[in-house]
Amino acid sequence: MIRDQMLAAEKVKALEWRDSALYLLDQRLLPQQEFWQRYDSAADVALAIREMRVRGAPAIGIAAAFAVVLAAQQHIANQVTNLPLALEADFKLLAESRPTAVNLFWALEKMRSCLKLAVQHQQPLQLLEAQAVAILNDDREANLYTAELGLQMMRATNPTQQHVMTHCNTGALATGGFGTALGVIRAAYLDGLVSCVHVNETRPWLQGSRLTAWELVGEGIPSLLNVDSSAAHLMAQGKITWVIVGADRITANGDVANKIGTYQLAVLARYHNVKVMVVAPSSTIDMQLSSGRQIPIEERAGEEILSVGEQRIAAEIAAFNPVFDVTPAHLVDVIVTERGCVEQPTAEKMRVLMQGESL
Ligand code: MRU
Repeated sequence: MIRDQMLAAEKVKALEWRDSALYLLDQRLLPQQEFWQRYDSAADVALAIREMRVRGAPAIGIAAAFAVVLAAQQHIANQVTNLPLALEADFKLLAESRPTAVNLFWALEKMRSCLKLAVQHQQPLQLLEAQAVAILNDDREANLYTAELGLQMMRATNPTQQHVMTHCNTGALATGGFGTALGVIRAAYLDGLVSCVHVNETRPWLQGSRLTAWELVGEGIPSLLNVDSSAAHLMAQGKITWVIVGADRITANGDVANKIGTYQLAVLARYHNVKVMVVAPSSTIDMQLSSGRQIPIEERAGEEILSVGEQRIAAEIAAFNPVFDVTPAHLVDVIVTERGCVEQPTAEKMRVLMQGESL
């Protein structure tokens, strides 16, 4: 029942694969302009990822998977004799497009494994395309399931209507569909559990005010935009029950890298007795890294802080612009994935989750 409502509620997409090409909705232009662009080369997709025309950990991974298909198409059309060798440069370019979201490297690894089988096949392109499509569809399916799990977790903790806070954009625009944290919020609203979503602007790129607000308002979900620095004030008023966020990389001990500002929200949440839910597909979990200290944190151009749009607003000062931070596992109340929920994450609980044993 809730799933039917969820499917009916979904209105936007970040990307589409059709006619052997990738189409991306340019997220730099939202919400003013809905501009879809066709991509035919891996180099152009790598640039689109770097420039954040497509963004959000799962969507980056999906775009990169299709970029590998585009590269293979070109190499095959050019009659290369050694497809894996020809694709090496494309894998490298894509891997260098953004550093923090592990979904990018996860998706490239899936495509690399598929390539090993594909080269022994009569029609390697078909296999590569099927793998990229599966990455897209599996992500959407995982999101629909985690939305239900997150909703159940919220209801079990507090069955009354409540206000929640979210940061960055974790919706359909950031994923293969429906969203991670925003998916849970959407499902909880449809189930009558959420009466207001407090949307953090998410300086400096404004994923909250431009993208999350656009998705929520488009679906008629009651929401209010606030500056990032009003989070403590809002929590002190006592209405917010959950901070619900996504993740770009979760390490083996349950530490969470997410959009800059998430860590301070988690600190504030603990102080104000507000719970923190992190929602992510298991492709965001990096069991190779033992703690969040090992996660590469992307630093972007200071220009993003110094100007708004084309307009310079800051004095003549240099800027420091790390765009992710790491929330230690002990500040996270629950990690929700399609494999299940991990409450008060620890290395042991993460290992059990990823090995598929019941928690
Ligand atoms: O820099 P962005 O916009 O790619 O950062 C996105 C985030 O930090 C999201 O919270 C995260 O990728 C989860 S998206 C489902």
